[in-house]
Amino acid sequence: MRKLFNITSVFLLSLFCLAVSAQDNNFYPGKIWNDADGKPINAHGGGILYDKGIYYWFGEIKNGKTIRVEEDKSWENYRVNAGGISCYSSKDLVHWKNEGVALAPSTDSTSELYFGKVIERPKVIYNAKTKQYVMWMHIDSKNYGYARAGVAVSKAPAGPYTYLGAVRPNDAMSRDMTVFKDTDGKAYLVCTSENNLTIHVNLLSDDYLKPTAIFTRILIGQNREAPAIVKHHNKYFLITSLCSGWDPNAARYAVADSMLGNWVVMGNPCTGEDSATTFHSQSAYIIAAAGKDKYIFMADRWQKTDLPDSRYIWLPLEFEGDKMVVKWEDKWHL
Ligand code: DGJ
Repeated sequence: MRKLFNITSVFLLSLFCLAVSAQDNNFYPGKIWNDADGKPINAHGGGILYDKGIYYWFGEIKNGKTIRVEEDKSWENYRVNAGGISCYSSKDLVHWKNEGVALAPSTDSTSELYFGKVIERPKVIYNAKTKQYVMWMHIDSKNYGYARAGVAVSKAPAGPYTYLGAVRPNDAMSRDMTVFKDTDGKAYLVCTSENNLTIHVNLLSDDYLKPTAIFTRILIGQNREAPAIVKHHNKYFLITSLCSGWDPNAARYAVADSMLGNWVVMGNPCTGEDSATTFHSQSAYIIAAAGKDKYIFMADRWQKTDLPDSRYIWLPLEFEGDKMVVKWEDKWHL
């Protein structure tokens, strides 16, 4: 009887090992990426929170028909109704479970979260003092004239989040944005301001809910958007794109010794074929893989006439001294 039990256990263990080794742990940039339910991940312009061994991916839910914006013909643009913010969870950054809608849009046309307006680029950080998860995002009107940063909170990482409202940090416009939580616990809202001409780095209040009066103007007059930040060996690296709507352009990065300090503009971190279009994509976030000293460049390949079909471009981001390098890979793993 014991022998039979042993044989069965060995058999089951082998089956388990086979299943684990057969699991595909690769990233396939630009290919359809399904969640655990077999549905394409819907989390655009996203950001990652790492919390207690789990990664949470927050992004824009894009559903339905994409339409050409008629009001502003000078700025060729396409839009889709705001579907709110999604949340997915993963232990390995490859396999993702849909955690549902973290922040729902509103059907009230007077609300800043009205589905007919713009809710983009959500980023979540944890505040250890208030024990709250804080989500910042780009809130805008249909024609992008409202230009504000919105904030929402939750007691649980996946939400649901309670929306608190939107602001113009230090009375300045805020469109594409990211938040960065430093190792000393200070957090910054980094946004494209001054009608997309200049980036502002705003120190947030201790509870991360408001921009303080401490801010700095960087990359002045350089027309950068889609900011993404990482700290590597005590230096801060910021990747941005140029402004060309949903169309891709060349990324550029800058380096600084402190978030509010002097940012030195460097070149394009992308190398090789298609580096001039950031491999047909636009920066969203830089993931620091927990405990690995490895980084992932996270970007969106916008499909402007069918925005829900926009794909994700995740590529290895490496450092050669102060030089940041992103190379194309069809298939890769951490
Ligand atoms: C580029 C921005 O980076 C996107 O997030 C989005 O706002 C589009 N512009 C809209 O044209």
